[in-house]
Amino acid sequence: MDTMDATLHAALGERRIQHLYRQRSHLTSGCAAMITVDGKPQHNFCSNDYLGLAGHPDIALALKAGADQYGTGSGASHLISGHSEAHENLEQQLAEFTGRPRALLFSTGYMANMGVITALMGRHDMVLQDYLNHASLLDGGRLSRAQMQRYKHSNIEDLAAKLDASHASRKLVVTDGVFSMDGDLAPLVSVAETLRHKSGL
Ligand SMILES: Cc1ncc(COP(=O)(O)O)c(C=O)c1O
Repeated sequence: MDTMDATLHAALGERRIQHLYRQRSHLTSGCAAMITVDGKPQHNFCSNDYLGLAGHPDIALALKAGADQYGTGSGASHLISGHSEAHENLEQQLAEFTGRPRALLFSTGYMANMGVITALMGRHDMVLQDYLNHASLLDGGRLSRAQMQRYKHSNIEDLAAKLDASHASRKLVVTDGVFSMDGDLAPLVSVAETLRHKSGL
């Protein structure tokens, strides 16, 4: 602590006063509905393991078999030499399961949101985002270097007005489907209809 920069030290102190200083709990159990936190059993209402797959025995078995066959690291990105037959099979099966022509795997949701928006949009484009979108979507929009605006949460009138006000030739509307902090659903049908109407399709 003695060597810590004084500004940083003060900022950390300020966070503590505001009860915003965060610390990590120690889990001694795996991810499940009941977990052991700092030695105490607790109900787990804050994971994103919605389907309970993190503790599924079949997946644990497949992971062990995969580690035996491929080891524990790919050693490179997918575009270099890190795309295994197992990745390819999983993408194909996911595409089939969801009825889409292709699927592309990312290691985390954060990376998927960054990757998709930056791939689709560039500096001459416009990205419109729901005000309560996850940080990864907002970061993806910023990194794409497109002009970015946020419309009022789930507010179709505000979205339509912002679409009308923009002169960019390519516009992307980005919304979470289920908003992770509030748990409410985006009005996806209305968003899609508004876009169809505005683009004359
Ligand atoms: C709505 C939403 N999008 C994206 C993410 C990021 O996903 P990940 O934790 O896999 O990076 C989360 C994570 O909690 C999320 O709730």
